[in-house]
Amino acid sequence: MIKVLAINGSPRKDGNTAILIRTVLKELENESIVTETIQLGGKKIHGCTACMKCFENRDRKCVIDDDLVNTCIEKMSEADGFLFGSPVYFLDVTSEMKALIDRAGFVSYGNGHIFSGKVGNAAVAVRRAGASRTADTMLHFFLANDMIVPGLPCIGVGRDIGDVGQDEEGIAHAKKIGQNMARLVKILHQHPLSKQEPANADERMKKKKK
Ligand SMILES: Cc1cc2nc3c(=O)[nH]c(=O)nc-3n(C[C@H](O)[C@H](O)[C@H](O)COP(=O)(O)O)c2cc1C
Repeated sequence: MIKVLAINGSPRKDGNTAILIRTVLKELENESIVTETIQLGGKKIHGCTACMKCFENRDRKCVIDDDLVNTCIEKMSEADGFLFGSPVYFLDVTSEMKALIDRAGFVSYGNGHIFSGKVGNAAVAVRRAGASRTADTMLHFFLANDMIVPGLPCIGVGRDIGDVGQDEEGIAHAKKIGQNMARLVKILHQHPLSKQEPANADERMKKKKK
């Protein structure tokens, strides 16, 4: 089974980001790829506390276990690719999305880059300013985690719920992203990576034992 997971960082569950996500996922589903969306925005999500336990425990989990982040990490590890979606909030991703990026990112680093070789892309809903920077925040998560990004993220312009549906260019690009992701996850699924050893940098991040 080939699977792509979407994570919606917008607190507006059926808002503009959701429209872009659904548009991308529909293209994947047309290619018989299984999709799932996790609604992260609007939920209580802790930020990273820099406890570094993920580097010590090496159990592919964050020690903060009372919110959705560990579910996201587990499903991200199982998926062939993922799509992060966020509206622009003060020129960047929402705080829920940033918390996921920091915590999932450190869990990945502490456990030997668990997302390595997967496909990632992003969807951004914007009223006017900050779309590129918001997209970059999510794309850098993918690149820092040794993932593969098939082209530019999609950006949909709109303010009120549903506006993005009128942005023809944004919707067309969302479809294109879905098609590119579908093609790439299918190819990569045939060629899984062999299990990798953690990079040296990960070892250096471990707390020194006294
Ligand atoms: C707290 C907050 C901050 C925002 N900051 C920006 C901004 O910096 N630039 C911008 O163009 N739009 C900004 N917006 C508007 C949203 O990005 C826009 O309405 C978007 O379509 C919302 O997507 P959603 O329906 O998925 O939540 C902001 C909205 C909120 C609630």
